[in-house]
Amino acid sequence: MNAVSPELMSIPQGVIEPDPKFRKVVTGKQPVVLADIYEESTNLIIWQRQLPKELVAGVNDLAVSRRDRNFSVVLKPSDARSVMHEEIDNPRFGYFVDDAAELVDMFCYLFGLDEAGLRLRVLHHSMCPKFHVDHVPCRLVTTYCGVATEWLAHESVDRKKLGLSGAEKSDQESGLYQTERDIQELARGEVALMKGEKWPGNKGAGLVHRSPAVAAGEPRLLLTLDFSS
Ligand SMILES: [Fe+2]
Repeated sequence: MNAVSPELMSIPQGVIEPDPKFRKVVTGKQPVVLADIYEESTNLIIWQRQLPKELVAGVNDLAVSRRDRNFSVVLKPSDARSVMHEEIDNPRFGYFVDDAAELVDMFCYLFGLDEAGLRLRVLHHSMCPKFHVDHVPCRLVTTYCGVATEWLAHESVDRKKLGLSGAEKSDQESGLYQTERDIQELARGEVALMKGEKWPGNKGAGLVHRSPAVAAGEPRLLLTLDFSS
């Protein structure tokens, strides 16, 4: 039997709730990094890609166009281009459609899915302004335009302050994190796989994240992919 340290013996039972889970972030310049999501110890993968110039020009136009560009669809990789073209009926946005369809293909291949739930949003304000975890297995998130998603490393979070217990206080006041320096953010164009609470074995370790504040006149173009069922 292992000896108990004197420090632990002196602390009343029930006061300490050590977090037995360790979670890390893995980053890489190539899409192959996405496969690291299968490591139990990861809860965020960031593919640090840069968007090509022609794609940047297209998504900037898309974000500020007057038409409603918000939609949610369930699609198969083989149908992704045609379904997206139906939703975004303008050849100017062809590079964007191709890129999104490629992400659908990668996401479905990575997780062995026949189809994925795609959601596109043009955001003029913060959609989920408080830090939270998602109750999904894993979500792909990428911001084509505007400021990107903010997140906290697993070790920076006091999970007791998540959800209801921190509801009346702002993230700054709740004690969820120690300092503003703990808040990290994705970059425009980067592709993130954020493990949620429903990933097998990941309860209590979903990536904590939030939507950033959006400056006036600088909308975000956000694409997410989810398991469809
Ligand atoms: Fe979320």
